[in-house]
Amino acid sequence: MAKRKTKYVCQECGYESAKWMGKCPSCNSWNTMVEEIEASAVRGRGSFSSGTQTVSKPESITSIESQKEPRITTSMKEFNRVLGGGIVLGSLVLIGGDPGIGKSTLLLQISSQLAGKEVPVLYVSGEESTRQTKLRADRLGIKEDLLYVLSETNLFDIGKQIEEVRPSFVVIDSIQTIFKEEVTSAPGSVSQVRECTVELMKIAKSNGIPIFIVGHVTKEGAIAGPRLLEHMVDAVLYFEGERHHTYRILRGVKNRFGSTNEMGIFEMKEEGLREVLNPSEIFLEERSEGTAGSTVVASMEGTRPVLVEIQALISPTSFGNPRRTATGIDHNRVPLLMAVLEKRVGLMLQNQDAYIKVAGGVKLDEPAIDLALAVSIASSFRDQPTNPDDIFVGEVGLTGEIRRVSRIEQRVQEAAKLGFKRVICPKNNLDGWSYPKGIQVIGVSTVQEALEVGIIR
Ligand SMILES: Nc1ncnc2c1ncn2[C@@H]1O[C@H](COP(=O)(O)OP(=O)(O)OP(=O)(O)O)[C@@H](O)[C@H]1O
Ligand SMILES: [Mg+2]
Repeated sequence: MAKRKTKYVCQECGYESAKWMGKCPSCNSWNTMVEEIEASAVRGRGSFSSGTQTVSKPESITSIESQKEPRITTSMKEFNRVLGGGIVLGSLVLIGGDPGIGKSTLLLQISSQLAGKEVPVLYVSGEESTRQTKLRADRLGIKEDLLYVLSETNLFDIGKQIEEVRPSFVVIDSIQTIFKEEVTSAPGSVSQVRECTVELMKIAKSNGIPIFIVGHVTKEGAIAGPRLLEHMVDAVLYFEGERHHTYRILRGVKNRFGSTNEMGIFEMKEEGLREVLNPSEIFLEERSEGTAGSTVVASMEGTRPVLVEIQALISPTSFGNPRRTATGIDHNRVPLLMAVLEKRVGLMLQNQDAYIKVAGGVKLDEPAIDLALAVSIASSFRDQPTNPDDIFVGEVGLTGEIRRVSRIEQRVQEAAKLGFKRVICPKNNLDGWSYPKGIQVIGVSTVQEALEVGIIR
């Protein structure tokens, strides 16, 4: 018998090596190399979609007929928007999210809505039995005949069922449970996930069926499996939410057919997910408007803008040394900004305690939050509130100047989307882009100016 060849594959990035290593030389992560048996040269039952591909020839770009990609729309407006206006035929979409956040619920609801519109749907669950899926469907009030449920993990058999049922929409819940026979490693390993995704992509493209794949999320919050997975699919969506809240956010991280600035907000209820059409209210819900010391900043979290409230409490020191504490931001920024406010604006802060908090337990680490922080401190010190419809963005320099920030357009768009009326931002950021409708963008060049615009006397 021939010796079985093995290789070590990094479960983070897919790097392959003949030897085991403690640290992956490609992505520098520790203890991620896992032994996998190399795929044998003998093919198994064969690739499901082989033979359906045609040989393509290069064409001149002008000779290609231009057409809008055909889309199917669901009755969930928020969902359509995140996808850029509906589900594109033949697209492969990955949905990631923490355990129990509601991925299966969302996709089952979408499936039922489509089935209700005479679109045959195949819902493949590798994690739950058909009876379990039925239980959830009963809770959600789903009774569509055209919604077919399959509990299966073998990709070949799934492919066969797709050919038989001829659905116009397929859900695979989840990619980590599906396996391909020819690949010898366990389901969920890098090779399995990669191979299965490639196969699903072929099925999607050659039949024009949109396929949604559920992906698990690692401790760090990335979709489990290689980064490669995100490159292969047409769109990547994240379904997120706070453990203690019923609200869920669906965000596009990548989309080949639309913008990734969109987000959809849902509320988890007993009878399933309900769209929230007025999201700004949720974010403002817990904010005490019109109180001194509170501002909202549009901060970038990776490539996405998030709107967060920054609170400051400034009160006279009763002991010798004033206290400066900060949660959610680098605490070195606080004395620095207080010194700038003291020297450039003339606020007497040296005998004041300062407590800073980023609401909601978020951590912010970019300089663009400086301005909001400075305005919060000044507002609390003077006991004068800021306008609840304002957003502050900008880096503060040591001379009190407001410096340019990156991705201003995205931040302003997010602010506009959530119903804010004014953005106070660096003057240098004003040119070269167009503002969204319904929002006023005010450029300021010093902290003093920002305080004059932002604080209500
Ligand atoms: N009776 C109920 N009333 C309200 N909410 C419920 C009820 N039953 C379940 N849920 C919500 O649904 C969530 C589970 O949803 P779902 O199974 O779709 O999540 P998932 O993301 O698919 O999880 P997994 O990662 O385990 O597949 C629960 O965490 C809970 O918030
Ligand atoms: Mg699930």
